[in-house]
Amino acid sequence: DTSEEKQMKEAYELLQKFYHHLLVNTTEGQHALEYLLGRGFSKDSIEKFQIGYSLPSWDFTVKWLNKRGFQLPLLEKAGLIIKRESDESYFDRFRNRIMFPIQNSKGETIAFAGRAIEKEDQPKYLNSPETILFNKSNILYNYYRAKGFIKKQQQAILFEGFADVISADTAEIFNGIATMGTSLTEQHVQLIRRMTDSVTICYDSDFAGIEAAYRAGKMLSEQNCNIRIARMPEGLDPDDYIKKYGAEKFRQDVIGASLTFMSFKMEYFRLGKNLQNEGEKLQYIEKIIEEITNLDKAVERDHYLRQLADEFSISLDALKQQQKQMFYANK
Ligand code: GTP
Ligand code: MN
Ligand code: MN
Ligand code: MN
Ligand code: MN
Repeated sequence: DTSEEKQMKEAYELLQKFYHHLLVNTTEGQHALEYLLGRGFSKDSIEKFQIGYSLPSWDFTVKWLNKRGFQLPLLEKAGLIIKRESDESYFDRFRNRIMFPIQNSKGETIAFAGRAIEKEDQPKYLNSPETILFNKSNILYNYYRAKGFIKKQQQAILFEGFADVISADTAEIFNGIATMGTSLTEQHVQLIRRMTDSVTICYDSDFAGIEAAYRAGKMLSEQNCNIRIARMPEGLDPDDYIKKYGAEKFRQDVIGASLTFMSFKMEYFRLGKNLQNEGEKLQYIEKIIEEITNLDKAVERDHYLRQLADEFSISLDALKQQQKQMFYANK
């Protein structure tokens, strides 16, 4: 580390401790703590994930860290404070938010995500900006805690957000990581690939989550990963699900009942299609044959072709014929 990087990390570390203290021990943080407990976060997970609270003040961080010897331009570079254009004075980036520290793969805190407590506060999550320490396209939330478990269990569980990872942890699922709202990148995939080639994608069950799951699955399977896709009742995310139905049901009915990527695609490609319509039905069948043709294993190709044949009462021979035609057409 350069001395600048070192100082930035120190600032993050100090602030993380103080934010956590504000949340758990002070009256200023009481409404934030009540919000978290009200949402079902446990005291243990608040401790383990070092969740904190930032004061509503415009310059608390500026003064508090400056008093401890940190130069303001350095704190600005670290993304903790922002310079006003009007008079070049500085103000705090994070105000009146629940603070989730984000660590690099060595476990050093290098960024924060601050969640709004009030509904009308926007954005819902405010992150540290890109800095010399933090680039969200190569950081996965909880990676440093999860990586050992991922390796040992030979499986990673990929979530969308902070709350999902933390709830899963409460449910004794320790191999959970999250992309923090961005799409999965090649660098994220490499981080996962170092530990395992089996990934269960457990994104939110809304439209955005299903789309993102398809894209992440595609990317991971292009890197030769075995993918499973977990599904939940419409409108819930993993955090909601665990809090509503409990850890055991989550492990059995969501993680345990996850689909292979091919089965997921058989559902995904029919979204928005009217399969009563002859044309749309044929289009769908062709798309699925194409996907099946791309599978590596003959046994799998056979399995899904049979499934398709059964569902649409088409002879297996006809499907195989079609598959051959498409195979040669693609050559
Ligand atoms: P909760 O509402 O606290 O349960 O959050 P969530 O994780 O369910 O949020 P959501 O499913 O909407 O988004 C998934 C992840 O995307 C979040 O955990 C964040 O990492 C990220 N995200 C969501 N909203 C924002 C936003 O407004 N700004 C940024 N930068 N990231 C966001
Ligand atoms: Mn503590
Ligand atoms: Mn979401
Ligand atoms: Mn969500
Ligand atoms: Mn949520």
